[in-house]
Amino acid sequence: MRILVLGGTWFLGRAVAQAALDRGWEVTVFNRGRSGAAPEGARTVRGDRTIAADLARLAGEGPWDAVVDTSASEMAPRDVLAGARALEPVAGRYVYVSTVNAYRRWPSEPLTEDSEVLDGPPHADADYGRLPDDWNGPDWYYGRQKAGAERATTAAFGEDGAVILRPGVILGPGEYVGRLPWWLRRAACGGRMLAPGAPDKPIQPIDVRDVAAFALDQAAARGGGAYNCVAPIGRETMSEFLTACVLATGGEAQLVWAPDKALLDHGVQQWTELPLWRTHPGVWKIDSTRAQAAGLVCRPLSETVADTWAWLRDGGMPVEHPRWAEHGITPEKEALILAALGRK
Ligand SMILES: NC(=O)c1ccc[n+]([C@@H]2O[C@H](COP(=O)([O-])OP(=O)(O)OC[C@H]3O[C@@H](n4cnc5c(N)ncnc54)[C@H](OP(=O)(O)O)[C@@H]3O)[C@@H](O)[C@H]2O)c1
Repeated sequence: MRILVLGGTWFLGRAVAQAALDRGWEVTVFNRGRSGAAPEGARTVRGDRTIAADLARLAGEGPWDAVVDTSASEMAPRDVLAGARALEPVAGRYVYVSTVNAYRRWPSEPLTEDSEVLDGPPHADADYGRLPDDWNGPDWYYGRQKAGAERATTAAFGEDGAVILRPGVILGPGEYVGRLPWWLRRAACGGRMLAPGAPDKPIQPIDVRDVAAFALDQAAARGGGAYNCVAPIGRETMSEFLTACVLATGGEAQLVWAPDKALLDHGVQQWTELPLWRTHPGVWKIDSTRAQAAGLVCRPLSETVADTWAWLRDGGMPVEHPRWAEHGITPEKEALILAALGRK
């Protein structure tokens, strides 16, 4: 197999490139050379996917059996469309990494691949879906952009040649967002550690290496379609996740569970101050049986936790990223809430 990875230098894209090399595939990566490095053995083509001349030069390096697009987290649909159209003559199929945010009812309701996808035309620019500053409703900007990019992919490669992957939260070695790294570092500090919500709340993060493996399976498969890429509903809980963090880091921290209401009363920001904690009823109710039937295998979350801790201890932090700063409650705020819980 000859494969082109758009991105290929950090987190998911790097994992895809590495896994393809491990399968003995020929790998080309395309990026601007700003974020991280491609795995050894991959051929790098430098360029910006928003520039037509760079895309034309990239197409000249083909053909490929498949493209895996991992570099479009902040890419306007029209740029995805231009890229996919430039590559269509030299690529057999296109695997586009989208997100569950593309669904209109995430995180409020349970979802399958048949659930409604947000509006977002394939030729939309980066302003499509921007919300006014005083908007109080759901934040659909990212989801609309990704939904438009999904349509762009299908417009260029057709229903049979375009595969859409919709992961939820991706964790694992190389994670730059800082969700699992924050929990691990907090657990390593020991002491009484604030644990959010109900211990038995199911969660569905997926390991970056499992998304990568499934993306490659799809690159080599036939036919198109969409797949939710998350761990099976109810397989693991918040308690199992945090216990794994405590065990991986030496077992010094003691979990102190705080009900949702106590955290909300203290103004704790969901998703960011205590990563993975969110009270919306549909956040972890994403059905992934279609992907599992097509070969998606999700390793145990405890393995993801242990491997991420090993990566962090090896000095892991590949790129400076603004989202790293989004995660984690301050020690002072955590102490305040723990003290309030102790008084009850
Ligand atoms: N992280 C999660 O939990 C999560 C969850 C759901 C879905 N996703 C999706 O997963 C995908 C992968 O995410 P990611 O965080 O691994 O990567 P990403 O931030 O989307 O992309 C980074 C990669 O793309 C390259 N890149 C960025 N802009 C480029 C441009 N204009 N031209 C050429 N290359 C460019 C970067 O290299 P250079 O900077 O060197 O160009 C880097 O290799 C995204 O589509 C994201 O939406 C992520």
